[in-house]
Amino acid sequence: MQKVTWIPGDGIGPEVTKSACDIVLASGAAVEFEEVAAGMVEGERTGTPLPAAVFESIARNQVVIKGPTQTPFGGDYRVRIERKNDKGVIEKRSHPSVAIALRKELGLYVNVRPVRNYPSVQSRYDNVDIIIFRENSEDLYTGMERMIDEGTAEAIKIISFRATERVSKFALDYMRRLKRKKLTVGHKANVMKMTDGLFLKTAQETAKAYPEITLDQRVVDALCMELVMKPEIFDGLLLPNLYGDIVSDLAAGLVGGLGVAPGANIGPDCAMFEAVHGSAPDIAGKDVANPMAAILSAVMMLRYIGQSQAADRIDKALSHVLKEKRDITPDLGGGGGTRRMTEAIVAKLKDS
Ligand code: NAI
Repeated sequence: MQKVTWIPGDGIGPEVTKSACDIVLASGAAVEFEEVAAGMVEGERTGTPLPAAVFESIARNQVVIKGPTQTPFGGDYRVRIERKNDKGVIEKRSHPSVAIALRKELGLYVNVRPVRNYPSVQSRYDNVDIIIFRENSEDLYTGMERMIDEGTAEAIKIISFRATERVSKFALDYMRRLKRKKLTVGHKANVMKMTDGLFLKTAQETAKAYPEITLDQRVVDALCMELVMKPEIFDGLLLPNLYGDIVSDLAAGLVGGLGVAPGANIGPDCAMFEAVHGSAPDIAGKDVANPMAAILSAVMMLRYIGQSQAADRIDKALSHVLKEKRDITPDLGGGGGTRRMTEAIVAKLKDS
């Protein structure tokens, strides 16, 4: 039995991750969930948005399902962490958000975000099948920002050979396993010659050990244009943190929106599965959030822990419910809600 840490999160997080957990349990997977709270609501309640209990649970289980957590725009909000290192010494650090704090503190160095068409999900294209690999530990997301004076702010962008080689190897190995043929690096090395230049060069050097995979490259602005015009030419994308974050939302828009875009954050010791979307405060508590991205993230989790049969069963049940259209959420053009769609998938799993 695999124990999985479940962080419901903020906004629509509790609704969509509950849906995913219910479906995993109905699939017959050998999984148990251990619920721990983190996020803005938890911060308001206890004074700390990321309590030590979260890290203790993750240390026990090594696998996490996480709902989105809310972060205020602007201001000086920081998520403060106190953790014992290997020598028992308490280290203090702070991060821009709960999601970034977890990714950094747990060493989750790559964010895998598959984007593809699903049955009955209306979109501008019907031939999209791309895996996005986003570097997850550095770039402009180190949170090193300051006001120089009242009218000027600066941020520091870090790109290292070590982190870029690590994420490149991960992406190339992943592509190799799936027999995919082309990995396109997105960058801005024409302007950021040192940082993005290093990212591109490192990816190109790393790819030499993978002769069966073509390493292609695009300046990120041109990449966005091509993604919108002919997404079918892309197979895998490798991007630094910030571009990866933006391009994966753009790519989600090609296949039906944020409601259908799952994700996995993976590191050497543990993995955290969370949808691409945020806490969607505009629709929270209304039972209209699409649970698909959370469900598909849970499917990625089941494959990661080696429970592929349960993952296949969920994929099949979800496809049935999508094809029938009756119970799907309003963003997919249906008249159902989060709960109704969940119950319909659970019913298909029980029948199968
Ligand atoms: P968002 O992804 O929450 O919402 C953008 C738009 O997409 C909204 O109109 C929303 O209603 C819609 N949407 C999102 N998920 C949906 C779903 N499952 N079903 C139907 N519609 C959906 O992005 P926004 O508004 O920029 O961010 C809100 C909050 O979420 C912010 O505090 C942000 O920091 C946080 N956030 C957290 C993330 C995480 O914890 N991993 C990731 C992204 C944002």
